[in-house]
Amino acid sequence: MKSTLDVVAIKSDFPIFDVPMRGGKRLVFLDSGATSQKPIQVMDAERNFYSTQNAAVHRGSYYLAEIASEAYEGARESVAKFLQVKSEEIIFTKSATESLNLLAVSFERSSGRLGIKAGDEIVVSELEHHANLLPWQQLAKRTGAVLKWFEMNADGSLDLSRIDEVITSKCKVVAVTHQSNVLGSAPDIAPIIAAAHVVGAIFVLDGCQSVPHQPVDIKGLDIDFLTFSGHKALGPTGIGVLWGRSELLEQMEPFLYGGSMIETVTMTNATWAPSPKRFEAGVPNMAQAVGLAAALDYLSAVGLSNIHSWEMQLTEYALKGLQEIDGVSVVGPQGLANRGGVISFVIDKLHPHDVGQVMDQYGVAVRTGHHCAWPLIRKLGLTGTTRASFYLYNDLADVDVLLESVLGARDYFRKR
Ligand code: ALA
Repeated sequence: MKSTLDVVAIKSDFPIFDVPMRGGKRLVFLDSGATSQKPIQVMDAERNFYSTQNAAVHRGSYYLAEIASEAYEGARESVAKFLQVKSEEIIFTKSATESLNLLAVSFERSSGRLGIKAGDEIVVSELEHHANLLPWQQLAKRTGAVLKWFEMNADGSLDLSRIDEVITSKCKVVAVTHQSNVLGSAPDIAPIIAAAHVVGAIFVLDGCQSVPHQPVDIKGLDIDFLTFSGHKALGPTGIGVLWGRSELLEQMEPFLYGGSMIETVTMTNATWAPSPKRFEAGVPNMAQAVGLAAALDYLSAVGLSNIHSWEMQLTEYALKGLQEIDGVSVVGPQGLANRGGVISFVIDKLHPHDVGQVMDQYGVAVRTGHHCAWPLIRKLGLTGTTRASFYLYNDLADVDVLLESVLGARDYFRKR
């Protein structure tokens, strides 16, 4: 199998792959769904910011403050270019989780089309990570709105047969993932987006598992908001992105109050700066934004389409290998259609935490458990899964060690 990527060259940009794991094993990192590793270019960008540009942005009139502000706003432009949107539509948050909470809290405080009140309906799906469920669930509880959801089929797709009952004229917001973090399944979002817009509802896309791995065409999808996290896209922790249509952002009330997000302040009142400042109270995560811009430049240079097609080759090879092992059941989509490079599986009746510990002896890093998507796991009648997730620095040898470690885990417990 010929790689679409120069994985050897890519791997050499990531110092962590030189670190020996337990027992001196090499690192087989298959947990990029949780967080990605960082190339030296990202670390250099952050170090360079602190070494040569560090000052609080948008506050000082001195030289360094100007350079820092330029670096931070330059990072915003890089993210906008990456997503092919306007830079004033990019809001830096500390994480995708914060982006989604920002939306839910802002909608509670806003009025008109965006305001949520008793009797309104909010729609999610059973595929959601807790970060795209709990902000909406709790918003519904606080306001008296009704939370509804699309049910999941056993193959990880969504049941859209009752779409008109799920999305009704009372619906104000629909928030759905682009790809399940547990199963890798990519739901058919086009009919959901269309149905949301027919009733005038806002569509929010959780792009945490898609934006770092494939080209995402915001305009083509016709969505209203998108979020993703920096640390899953080769960037630093502490930086997330919220994109929103500017005409919607301008109607939204702030999430956090404080410095830099105001227009005027008296002892009894305040008015708000335009977006994005309105949503970035306090001194922001400046070095992290600059690091994220370097990460997105790295991804663009490799090419998102190349990354996606390589991940799908790895997934095909891993799926075939896992499906051939007696006692192993792949959970969710069994083939390559409508999925990304994430595979969940169970072995015999073993607890995934036990499986993960044996796999660790081979240097394999996988995530085990409910993956912050407890309703999805419950729906499958499981307590958890073992999950392998691929990225641009993985190769076929990594998949071979994955398969060897799965066999090893199965046999270790079968012999006991
Ligand atoms: N959301 C991350 C995951 O799926 C942490 O592992």
